[in-house]
Amino acid sequence: RGDENGYVDIDWDTLGFGLTSTDYMYKMKCFKDEEFAEGKLIPYGNIELSPAACVLNYGQGIFEGMKATRRENGKIVFFRPDGNALRMKKGAERMCMPSPSVDQFIDAVKQTALANKRWIPPPGKGSLYIRPLLLGTGATPSVAPATEYTFLIYASPVRNNYFKEERAALNLYVEDQFDRASRGGVGGLKSITNYAPGMKPLTKAKNNGYSDVLYLDSVTGKYVEEVSACNIFIVKDKIISTPPTKGTILPGVTRKSMIEIARDQGFKVEERQIAVEELLEADEAFCTGTAVAVVPVGSITYQGKRVEYRAADTNSMFKKLLSIYVGIQNGQIEDKKGWIVEI
Ligand code: COI
Repeated sequence: RGDENGYVDIDWDTLGFGLTSTDYMYKMKCFKDEEFAEGKLIPYGNIELSPAACVLNYGQGIFEGMKATRRENGKIVFFRPDGNALRMKKGAERMCMPSPSVDQFIDAVKQTALANKRWIPPPGKGSLYIRPLLLGTGATPSVAPATEYTFLIYASPVRNNYFKEERAALNLYVEDQFDRASRGGVGGLKSITNYAPGMKPLTKAKNNGYSDVLYLDSVTGKYVEEVSACNIFIVKDKIISTPPTKGTILPGVTRKSMIEIARDQGFKVEERQIAVEELLEADEAFCTGTAVAVVPVGSITYQGKRVEYRAADTNSMFKKLLSIYVGIQNGQIEDKKGWIVEI
């Protein structure tokens, strides 16, 4: 189905990052202490849940974010889907949930992308954002792992940019009142419980004209951690630094890829604690994530001090790394690492 080119009839130039519902979603269930066995595509729509579902009452749920992209040659590709599959497995273990195997996960996201193919934007116009969810759907009035689990995947076409700034640089506000993650908690996995507590600081920052919030560590309040929905890098004297993923920081697939790309180019990358004062001295800063892709930071404000960066000039480290990342994604640069998975 679709028009003569196989596309749904929508205006691809006005895509946002909101939900556009598509044709199919994928669903697979299993009981506690069992393994996921077989799932299927079903028409996209609401799901029915017990009011006592563990996910609704106690937040037993994790999610992933991935993109299926259409290349100029018509091929549909994913970027490192095994990274998402493994992260879901690890997150499930922490949240006392069974998880699909890596192969089941990849097969399911491929099926979801193909079933919704007419919604995958034309090359350059965006991608099909794919959202796998793993939910404790069994009823549990007491605090205990659910007796039944649902792996659900839905998809929505989105533009390339998550932020409304489009290609402009982000203005970040360093939040020193609210924390995102605590030691021993679940900041290092995509638990659904990590996101709602960030809505208040995010709303405050947006109301004050900032693009997003940059969080500090919750133990000392001295070190940079991450932004609401993405990781952060700084560059000083051509050395790239990013906070280490030691439990409170989401181990982003794009983060990991940028580190590898930079090292392959001969640049030094340090995964280390970054004191908040270092932000004031940095030459550049940029953010990475599946939804946000790779975006430059234009300014960071910390306790009333605002520092501006030469974010996106042609000689910036950001631009160099971005062009390689984009080249590998769109096929103009050879994928020597097996990152691209064609459907
Ligand atoms: C992604 O980058 O795909 C994410 O899952 C972040 C999300 C909170 C927008």
